Amino acid sequence: ITRRASNITQVMHDITDADRARRNGHKGGVLWFTGLSGAGKSTLAVATERRLFDLGYQVYVLDGDNVRFGLNADLGFSPEDRAENIRRVGEVAALMARAGLIVITAFISPYRSDRDRARQAAGHDFHEIFIQADVATCEARDPKGLYQKARAGEIKEFTGVSAPYEAPDAPELSVDTAALPVDACLDKLMAYVEETFTRT
Ligand code: PPS
Repeated sequence: ITRRASNITQVMHDITDADRARRNGHKGGVLWFTGLSGAGKSTLAVATERRLFDLGYQVYVLDGDNVRFGLNADLGFSPEDRAENIRRVGEVAALMARAGLIVITAFISPYRSDRDRARQAAGHDFHEIFIQADVATCEARDPKGLYQKARAGEIKEFTGVSAPYEAPDAPELSVDTAALPVDACLDKLMAYVEETFTRT
């Protein structure tokens, strides 16, 4: 994106990342979930948030459906709009992580380049987590009836049916929701997060 503003300078913070981490008992960071509609992103994001919250972590979920009601209400599902959706969410997640939170984002984020840009916005402590399930499995679940609508042509550019999904090349973690029950997926996620964001 081209920055339009000129005559701007960055303000330095007085409170450091280390100050915030000391108070919270852990550093901030982004857990970037990616996967098809119906793969289990939202379910696992909300369940992970609950477990981390109960352990005393400062944690917040940003979810695709929710963000599209507000901040990104002006965006649809063309490749350009998805890119802008992910760009904004990447910037918001980076700000929240800098504020000391563990941010869990649950967006399809189907394009590798968009996810890479979100990683760059966050700097370090960005963790790409592939919530993995093949189209057939997601379509069999079809919790919102969207695959059925997409097959019927009632939804255009639906990921996995009529729009692409580029699987991560080297995610920090993969969770196979087609092979594992929810609790096992959650245990795997928690093991990773507790190791990465060790409480002090
Ligand atoms: S993206 O690709 O990252 O910008 O998408 P995201 O913001 O995560 O929004 C995905 C949710 O929007 C609903 N929906 C669609 N998904 C994919 N393709 C099309 N065309 C579409 N239209 C509506 C759908 O409920 C997605 O939610 P999840 O939770 O992934 O099922």
